[in-house]
Amino acid sequence: MDGMEKRRHTRIDSLNLSYVCANEKGEAVDQGMGRTLNVSASGILLETYFPIALECSLELTIALEDDLVDIKGRVAHIRKRGEGKSETGIEFFDMTEESIRILDKFIRFFNETQPVFETDFPKLNLMKRGKVRDMYDVGDALLMVATDRLSAYDVVMPDPIPDKGKVLTQLSLFWFDVMKTLIQNHLITADVNAYPEACKQYEDTLKGRSMLIRKTEPLPVECVVRGYLSGSGWKSYQESGTVCGIELPKGLKESDKLPEPIFTPSTKEEVGVHDINIDFEEMSRRIGPSLAEKVKSLSLALYQKGAEIADKQGIIIADTKFEFGLMGDELLLIDEVLTPDSSRFWPKETYAPGGPQKSFDKQYVRDYLTSIHWDKTPPAPALPEEVIENTREKYLEALRQLSVISEQ
Ligand SMILES: Nc1ncnc2c1ncn2[C@@H]1O[C@H](COP(=O)(O)OP(=O)(O)OP(=O)(O)O)[C@@H](O)[C@H]1O
Ligand SMILES: [Mg+2]
Repeated sequence: MDGMEKRRHTRIDSLNLSYVCANEKGEAVDQGMGRTLNVSASGILLETYFPIALECSLELTIALEDDLVDIKGRVAHIRKRGEGKSETGIEFFDMTEESIRILDKFIRFFNETQPVFETDFPKLNLMKRGKVRDMYDVGDALLMVATDRLSAYDVVMPDPIPDKGKVLTQLSLFWFDVMKTLIQNHLITADVNAYPEACKQYEDTLKGRSMLIRKTEPLPVECVVRGYLSGSGWKSYQESGTVCGIELPKGLKESDKLPEPIFTPSTKEEVGVHDINIDFEEMSRRIGPSLAEKVKSLSLALYQKGAEIADKQGIIIADTKFEFGLMGDELLLIDEVLTPDSSRFWPKETYAPGGPQKSFDKQYVRDYLTSIHWDKTPPAPALPEEVIENTREKYLEALRQLSVISEQ
């Protein structure tokens, strides 16, 4: 193939690029699909299962809705990605005004629908990357961006789950509003048009998956509430009959409903270190007894209210984690609220205590990881397309079932 002059016709359909390679006589020699990884005004990054020769020149036809444009380009670089995949960077040249206009529209469409594994906003000040969220310091406020990263057993998976960040953001916005009567929260706005000027150029990516929030000093504890016996709570109960120092009735089964919801805090550790369950006394030592009392009763009230609302929609919230932050003396609800990442959501329909439950969260991914005997230490394995798609569906289902109307 080397050195051979080729012509490629490319049609962009839902961001999948189908291509036809032709030789210099115009005869088709190859065809298939390429996935767009990245688009910018100067070029395009494609993931393909076929190697493209570095020397070849290309003619792409981008079709988006009723617009159609022919763009000339050349292969700028190729990177092998394993499993027969390669990344091909294509550079555009000789752009006309019309092709720039259509490309602009395409970039917008692409950025709004493309999964986001990691954000890269060079004009903004990156404060921290958590397992899921990228936080930017934008002066008086923070810009919190929920990416599509998924972590399981505290390790970030290499593949994003499309739309996950949007689901988490829309759910949190819904709950922040519902819980306003119990406690104020960190939200300033989720309307990208009201963001600081410096964020404007990234608005396609930010739309639906970000919030402008108040800067707080997060309390160094995670406020976990459990209404049902599962996960580390079930494990601890089996060993000692207690969870975080709280004695529970004898004879409970896995996933049983507890006589009443319990507050079981844990420490907040750095990325890569598991949080450790602590008892209420230890929490009081860490943040002071009066603050500890306050967040305990708030957490229980928030859980109670959320669980009642979810129950009406056919979802059991088995347990959840809240985070609080201080802004001066004021205590605010921060981070994310009652999402499938911070909670165990079970469909009421299939609830059957005595074992693990079906869930709307990443349990599905955990089960897959167990089935391939991954040892839970980094790096995490790549996820098959089917697992990615099914996980995405679980997250979207939670949003649908809770009747949270996405503004997207
Ligand atoms: N209003 C806020 N002010 C300051 N920090 C916040 C605020 N809201 C959320 N955070 C912090 O931002 C981070 C969100 O990122 P993410 O949820 O991805 O992190 P994580 O990996 O779950 O948690 P961590 O990195 O703390 O272990 C969390 O550390 C959270 O405590
Ligand atoms: Mg978090």
